[in-house]
Amino acid sequence: MLKIEHLNAGYGDLQVLWDINLEIRSGEVVALIGSNGAGKSTLLWTLSGLLKPMSGSIIFAGQSIGGVSPDRIVSLGLTQVPQGRRLFAGLTVKENLLQGAYSRSDKADVAQDLDFVLELFPRLRERLNQPAGSLSGGEQQMCAVGRGFMARPKLLMLDEVSLGLAPIVVDAIYEAIGKVRARGMTVLIVEQDVQIALEQADRGYVLDVGSLIMSGAATDMLANPKIRAAYLGI
Ligand SMILES: Nc1ncnc2c1ncn2[C@@H]1O[C@H](COP(=O)(O)OP(=O)(O)OP(=O)(O)O)[C@@H](O)[C@H]1O
Ligand SMILES: [Mg+2]
Repeated sequence: MLKIEHLNAGYGDLQVLWDINLEIRSGEVVALIGSNGAGKSTLLWTLSGLLKPMSGSIIFAGQSIGGVSPDRIVSLGLTQVPQGRRLFAGLTVKENLLQGAYSRSDKADVAQDLDFVLELFPRLRERLNQPAGSLSGGEQQMCAVGRGFMARPKLLMLDEVSLGLAPIVVDAIYEAIGKVRARGMTVLIVEQDVQIALEQADRGYVLDVGSLIMSGAATDMLANPKIRAAYLGI
């Protein structure tokens, strides 16, 4: 579904990502882990078309998307739930959720998907007509993830959805991710919380100062002493 080869990217002259090679197959959940500043978000921004690659190729659903406009990439089926949520604080929860579906032409199914999202996150149903800015942090994250689902993407990329949230909220969000996965959505999870990410994922990649230094089955990575020492502190 997604194949990245020899990707180099960054900001202006500042190169952040070095020779990235990564593949995601249809139906997989893949975790990308790495410390602060490793370049995880930079990779997602590049995949979303918000940053132009310096070189290398990104093939998504059979098409080259390196440097393609963000709108076009969303319409091809690649959606990012950005780090820090980025909701429209003044719009209602419902308006934010529907905003996720803006590029869809199957409007009849949108109402059904809204219902599905509200079943996943009943707390959002109770707050549908409230401004998103008035929600708690956990509710805002549910809204951001729900908005990502509303795009009904082929590949959903989640950037640090667990950051700063209570365990019960994290559980609710990851349970929802499990349910969309069961519907056939492919998911890329970016997390600093290595344990949570690898427990959900089939495979993982480790990004370290802009380079991928390890990849493998998630269960192997969780058992790997180097990963445990470096990222789990055990
Ligand atoms: N807009 C920007 N302009 C210049 N440099 C940037 C910009 N955004 C990020 N960087 C730099 O790129 C590097 C990678 O940052 P990035 O946000 O991709 O890391 P990350 O792995 O997502 O970290 P975190 O876990 O803290 O979110 C950092 O050195 C950062 O300072
Ligand atoms: Mg980040």
